[in-house]
Amino acid sequence: MTTENTITQYQGDVKIEITAKDSGFTPFNGHNKPKFYGRRKGRTIRKAKTTLLEAFLPKIKITPDSVFDKEKLFGVPVNEVALEIGFGDGQHLAGQALKNPNTGYIGAEVFQNGVANLLTLITGIKEGSNIPQDIKLIDNRVDNIRVFDDDIRLLFNQIPDNFLNKVYILFPDPWPKKRHAHRRFVNPDNLKEISRIMKKGGILRIATDHKIYKGWALRQVKENGNFVWTAKCGNDWKKEPADWVQTKYELKAIREGRRPVFLDFERI
Ligand SMILES: C[S@@+](CC[C@H](N)C(=O)[O-])C[C@H]1O[C@@H](n2cnc3c(N)ncnc32)[C@H](O)[C@@H]1O
Repeated sequence: MTTENTITQYQGDVKIEITAKDSGFTPFNGHNKPKFYGRRKGRTIRKAKTTLLEAFLPKIKITPDSVFDKEKLFGVPVNEVALEIGFGDGQHLAGQALKNPNTGYIGAEVFQNGVANLLTLITGIKEGSNIPQDIKLIDNRVDNIRVFDDDIRLLFNQIPDNFLNKVYILFPDPWPKKRHAHRRFVNPDNLKEISRIMKKGGILRIATDHKIYKGWALRQVKENGNFVWTAKCGNDWKKEPADWVQTKYELKAIREGRRPVFLDFERI
């Protein structure tokens, strides 16, 4: 039986009860489905994007059965692997992958309209374009992006230890109300998984335009204990990093007068 605070599982004959911590975080051990609070779908997805989701996404899609071997996961040999969690419309993921052809990028996004938008960026196919029978990456692109079109927490269990060189969490939903704090993606459970799958010396980058989230993220990462904040002066976190690619939510924040911060943490 599963109640809101307790999950009961059976391991053979042994009954295991997992009780939610006082923090309010729902325990998730890879078997129960975590609750997702955001949107899975927005406006009706138009014809070209629907075709891309049906005909092209399967070519670059990661499933929980994919083999996490960097030699086999991508269409090209890669030296490093990066993960972007919640890539939104995909500008940052597509831009980083274009600039770094020797790095493999895994993007995870639940919002189907966002996934469809990423596919337009990497194939060049837009509404009104002629859609070829065999959809391919746009000419100058390297086959170094793979997509998980669901909640990243469902994939964590499959990713081996020390697999990733970089993890990006850019403008995560802030859930500013105190009673919604348990929904924030940067939390003890997720950081535990992220620190496990990252290589020592790797960089976790969290960007936010929300004052509460800035303090929250710094505290959560510090409490995790496996990271150090790399900033030495204000410019190191108040200015866009040298290798930055702007995202939709960053541009929205700037338009609305909020100042984003960019927090880089080294996995130690
Ligand atoms: C505020 S948006 C930011 C999007 C993008 N990073 C940007 O800066 O434009 C946060 C995104 O994270 C996605 N997201 C939230 N939790 C997620 C999860 N557990 N797995 C995958 N994506 C997630 C949401 O669907 C949403 O698109």
